[in-house]
Amino acid sequence: MGAALIRMEAGSPPADVSVEVPGDKSVTHRAILLGLLARGTTHILRPLRSEDTGRSLAVAQAFGAQVQESTAVLSIQSGGIGALTEPANVVDCGNSGTTMRLALGIAALVPGLTVLSGDASLRRRPMARVTAPLGELGVEAWTRDCGSAPVAVRGGRVRGGRVVLPVASAQVKSALLLAGLGADGPVTVEEPARTRDHTERMLAAQGIVVECDARVATVHPGLPRPVTWTVPADPSSAAFWWAWAALTGGRIVTDGILLNPARTGFLRLLRRMGAEVEESVQAETVEPVGRVRVTGPARLAGTSVDASEVPTLVDELPLAVVLMSRASGRSKVSGAAELRVKESDRIKAMGDALRALGAAVRDCPDGWVVDGQDGLSGGRVDACGDHRIAMALAVAASAARGPVILAGADTAGISYPAFFEAFAAAGAVRITEAS
Ligand code: S3P
Repeated sequence: MGAALIRMEAGSPPADVSVEVPGDKSVTHRAILLGLLARGTTHILRPLRSEDTGRSLAVAQAFGAQVQESTAVLSIQSGGIGALTEPANVVDCGNSGTTMRLALGIAALVPGLTVLSGDASLRRRPMARVTAPLGELGVEAWTRDCGSAPVAVRGGRVRGGRVVLPVASAQVKSALLLAGLGADGPVTVEEPARTRDHTERMLAAQGIVVECDARVATVHPGLPRPVTWTVPADPSSAAFWWAWAALTGGRIVTDGILLNPARTGFLRLLRRMGAEVEESVQAETVEPVGRVRVTGPARLAGTSVDASEVPTLVDELPLAVVLMSRASGRSKVSGAAELRVKESDRIKAMGDALRALGAAVRDCPDGWVVDGQDGLSGGRVDACGDHRIAMALAVAASAARGPVILAGADTAGISYPAFFEAFAAAGAVRITEAS
């Protein structure tokens, strides 16, 4: 969607619509960056091609890998850890937190100075949560005084050890595990809550010894071997389609979805809210992958999400609050203060937007309290430069009584470039340019 300002009017509910969902963002980032760390050629089938994953490709090139792209396959050719070279310039991570945090871990393996920066949103996000534990492993790493990017690492020597993280973050955990590949002993990372474990699974598939036990992961030093990855479809992108069905009483079918339980909290939430969710695993190699069919109820029921559940649906919470605004009774999200330091302050962005559409949403420091009502009105809303907010608001528009004017639809390119065209083509919303 090229236009930054669009007008959306509700279409009709999906009648057993089958949707093809793009590749998983977290897995694509890792496939690229693990390809950089392997010696030889890595092939990536069905990668997500988006602005964010393009940033990880640029990082791979900045550390010396060759990248080849054809329509079907993305190939990364690298000399692996030990052959990586100091970037010749500041590396621009754009809007991508995953790129920057994982690249900090990689920079710890590279002799010389690596400096990473990004756009205004990324330069507001907390990076000391990576540089501080890297410091505990003997790596010299710096942020600005405010704890944000630009960030710098002088790499080449990593000590093994155990790090206890104060925040549950798969990005931070992954950065430390990657640094551990070149450490002088095993690196153990303990988190306050279990987060997505794609890095652990993928490293194990590359022949690295990784031990996982609930909230603790240990990586043993080693050189990952190159493999051919097939990227499953992204449950965080599929969630917009599932939410459309749940909100409007329609039915959606999606295939080839990444069904890692650390990523499917939104499906459990949909069930609690009264949707019928059928999940069937079609294959399981590195990750379980399968079909998901969601059928919306006549009326959604309110529910609550707390800190223990947050990591399993952290990126879907903007969508959850859209559903809650239309559900019966009071709903609550708590323990989700992390949302304030995502691509935007997602608690404020969704609170402001839903209130503009007539919803009864109260922002809290760590979530929302929502009194569900029968319908949403039209209104003017802003994506706040955040891809997931833009797409969550398209879902809100699919069930709104009046037109929703959205500023910032173009940000969908960060994770799902074809979303607005596909959503309109499926009949969820009618889209025209607005002024
Ligand atoms: C991601 C982890 C999550 C998530 C982000 C992708 C990853 O961030 O919000 O979109 O790929 O590891 P945190 O784990 O830092 O919360």
